Amino acid sequence: MTTGFTRRQFTRAGAAASLAAVLPQGVFAAPTANHKATIRADDTIGLVRPEFHSHFAEHLGSCVYGGLWVGPKSPIENVEGFRKAAVDYLKELGVPVLRWPGGCYADDYHWREGIGPAARRPKRVNIHWGNYVEDNSFGTHEFIRLCRLIGAEPYFAANVGSGSPEEMRDWIEYCNFPSGSALADERAANGSPEPFRVKYWGVGNELWGCGGNFRPDGAGAEFRRFSSYARVFGDTKPYLIGCGPGGNDARWTRGFMDVLTGSRLPDGYSIHYYVNSDHAPLEFTPEAAMAQMNVFPRVEQAIIEQRALLDGYDPGRRIGLFLDEWGVWDRIPKADQDRYGALWQQSTMRSAVAAGLGLNIFNRQADKLYMCNIAQIANVLQSVLLTDGPEGKNCVRTTTYYAFMLFKPHRAKTAVPVAEDARMLAGNFSPDFVMPPDVSISASRSDSELVVSLVNPRAGEDVGVECMLRGARAKQGRAQILHDSDLNAYNSFDHPDRVVIQPREVAVEPDRLRIMLPAMSVATVTLDIE
Ligand code: AHR
Repeated sequence: MTTGFTRRQFTRAGAAASLAAVLPQGVFAAPTANHKATIRADDTIGLVRPEFHSHFAEHLGSCVYGGLWVGPKSPIENVEGFRKAAVDYLKELGVPVLRWPGGCYADDYHWREGIGPAARRPKRVNIHWGNYVEDNSFGTHEFIRLCRLIGAEPYFAANVGSGSPEEMRDWIEYCNFPSGSALADERAANGSPEPFRVKYWGVGNELWGCGGNFRPDGAGAEFRRFSSYARVFGDTKPYLIGCGPGGNDARWTRGFMDVLTGSRLPDGYSIHYYVNSDHAPLEFTPEAAMAQMNVFPRVEQAIIEQRALLDGYDPGRRIGLFLDEWGVWDRIPKADQDRYGALWQQSTMRSAVAAGLGLNIFNRQADKLYMCNIAQIANVLQSVLLTDGPEGKNCVRTTTYYAFMLFKPHRAKTAVPVAEDARMLAGNFSPDFVMPPDVSISASRSDSELVVSLVNPRAGEDVGVECMLRGARAKQGRAQILHDSDLNAYNSFDHPDRVVIQPREVAVEPDRLRIMLPAMSVATVTLDIE
């Protein structure tokens, strides 16, 4: 069921098309494969919540200390202690929600140690990430200030593992009660008379592991206890996120949810899904890259199946499904971690393709998801920013940053189904059908625009893609692409702009678009429609 459009046909269509950026030679090299899809613009999946593009910052390695936070006395250019380049880049990207302070760190964090005069805050050992000592100079007020600077909504992960319901309750009151209580007045005395109005509260993190090694029923019981005291303070109703499984673990979800019968249900429920590899970031072979990409259909399957499990307890779908840690987790060379901090991971063209696969999944499963937070925002795992260690002056936007940029036009649009070859061949048009890791396409629309994102995860194969439009007619369009023929290409401190978004030619006719996707690429086409 492939269409073959020949090189000549494609070029002619492209020349007649409404838009074109001038292309470097070689872009029209004959594709080694073709792919056909139909965009069903007259159908609806659901809202592409901007929260699908959210982030996560943990006290880990150089994510917070030395990465986002350098302190007001640092020789590194900063805004009130926050690294200026990071603030600027994150503002430009747009960070809908930022989760903090962990991760595993959350279940050993005591918020009172991070408020008040910085010089009096206790120094603490970070037991999860290398036993280094933190001075707590980055605490609640600093985190809220960072969120305000970059325009993000804060999401706190409270301590269940080594904390107490009282500690979480008090943190909520400290943040949200307007004035007149000891905790609200303490916040005011610490420089913030206005309540922070924090909506999102995670009830622990990975309770099955570093969050206290609970069994699912035990974790459910903790949710019952903690949620009893997590009340409305002031005018902000806390949105409580229960701790789900790592991966697609039905046993955990059933065990957790069964215990909640007859009590307050979580507002949100979070799963984590990392896509691992035993290859170092810069040493991927095409086979290793494909093995990693092959895991993404399972991420999609986890979203579908965990949603279905929750629906059994909550047919009205009031519980929002969170994927609040996701991304590629490669084998990280010790030398990089020694030099730049724990879990410092370079992001390559392959990582960007992985990000594109994930973001396409979120569009396709828009009706099932509430929020997704890539791990993590700076210097840790699949980050959007990298700095050269805690003292480093450099700050680069990674390939993953640019993949997120390419998906920004989808935010707040309505996801629409894309029927692809594999679906047609399988005769399966169900939105729950899990696509194999072939060319991956998702689309969303408003009244005037149709946005289509396309990912070619194959390391050795250029693909010509033709998308038929149903339920909309294209007037004109424009395309952008992120691509490097080297799957291990990355933005280094010496060459920060090696892999950046480029304009791309797309052939647009009223009922179709055609674009050439080089091997390892992520592209977004925006069509003006009627
Ligand atoms: O993101 C790194 C770690 O991965 C987090 O601390 C933890 O929640 C997960 O296992």
